[in-house]
Amino acid sequence: MAINMVDAPDPEAIKAYHGRSPYREFIATEGIPIYEEYSVDCNTIELEPWARLGGRGAYVHVTGRSDYLNAYVHEVPPGGETKVEQHLFEKLVYVVSGRGSTAIEAPNGKRHTFEWAPGAAFGIPLNAKHQYFNGSGSEPARLVAVTDAPLMIGLFHDSRSFIFDNPMQFPTRFGDERYFSGEGKFLQVRAGRHQWETNFVPDLKSLELPVWHERGAGGSSIQLSWVETILHSHISHFDSGTYKKAHFHNAGANIILVSGHGYSLLWHAGEDPLNTVRVDWHPGVLFAPPDGPTFHQHFNTSAGPARYLVFGPFSNRRYHVLEGARADDTVDVSAKEGGRQVEYEDEDPRILELFEKECAKHGTPSTMREYLEARGIKR
Ligand SMILES: [Fe+2]
Repeated sequence: MAINMVDAPDPEAIKAYHGRSPYREFIATEGIPIYEEYSVDCNTIELEPWARLGGRGAYVHVTGRSDYLNAYVHEVPPGGETKVEQHLFEKLVYVVSGRGSTAIEAPNGKRHTFEWAPGAAFGIPLNAKHQYFNGSGSEPARLVAVTDAPLMIGLFHDSRSFIFDNPMQFPTRFGDERYFSGEGKFLQVRAGRHQWETNFVPDLKSLELPVWHERGAGGSSIQLSWVETILHSHISHFDSGTYKKAHFHNAGANIILVSGHGYSLLWHAGEDPLNTVRVDWHPGVLFAPPDGPTFHQHFNTSAGPARYLVFGPFSNRRYHVLEGARADDTVDVSAKEGGRQVEYEDEDPRILELFEKECAKHGTPSTMREYLEARGIKR
């Protein structure tokens, strides 16, 4: 077999052969916008008609989404429905606005239907046929989904029918059928690792969360295990006028604000936390701390509690797919002790000063100075 070397290789041939992204090639055929932003407001981004799925949509690639995951906003028109779909990638969904329902077909032919409103979230069992319906005749409904389509389409690239038209069924992904009506199973582990296993949470704002003092003032959290997914998921709560401790972990934690308003600061080690990246948020804002790793810290300046939902990459507490997930067991351990967290006593004092100014702008009392002083932390 001869190799025919030439004086000048053909740049067009090299371009066509190298650097392909099967996932990006696929989404380029979808006819909807693709947003590449640090953060997006899922309430207001412009959508376009989505011929494949019905309704309107847009792909959302926030900077820290990781190579494994994407997000997209899918709008169901007033009085309308989306097309039935199934896919061999995982999908977790949060309801940004509107009211409606989801129908999911189980391998035994049983149809599970549940109704949702803003603040609800659910999982789609792997490769299950499903469809959304808008329950209002006048208001659109917006859902934001996080999926591992980039990985799965990348793995099987030229076989899209394998991803979107595959008869394989996964009955164990459906779990207890009561999970589709909002019931679940609590597994007590330890602070920050307690688990809520379900397929549907009707209202994340009112889900009871166990305390997680190690992550900061007024904090509580629970890990969510949906439809036997290998994706990570949790919801965190922190009180009015408080902020969490900074920490870092691998990219891919797609953070969706559920309630409250405030901001997050993001920076790399050695950078100025106050002058690197700031994301201001309110319900429906989506962002993700990038790799680097990126320290990030969340601040609640609203009169009520703030909650955010995280849909992240592999692994979760139940299923370890990536070994790196084991290291995330140190997200609430001081960096001085080999962990990934900045304790309050080690943070830049300007962080509290900025927070007090931001709270004052909103007429929200900050409780952080008293909280720190009560624990002997000087400012
Ligand atoms: Fe985090």
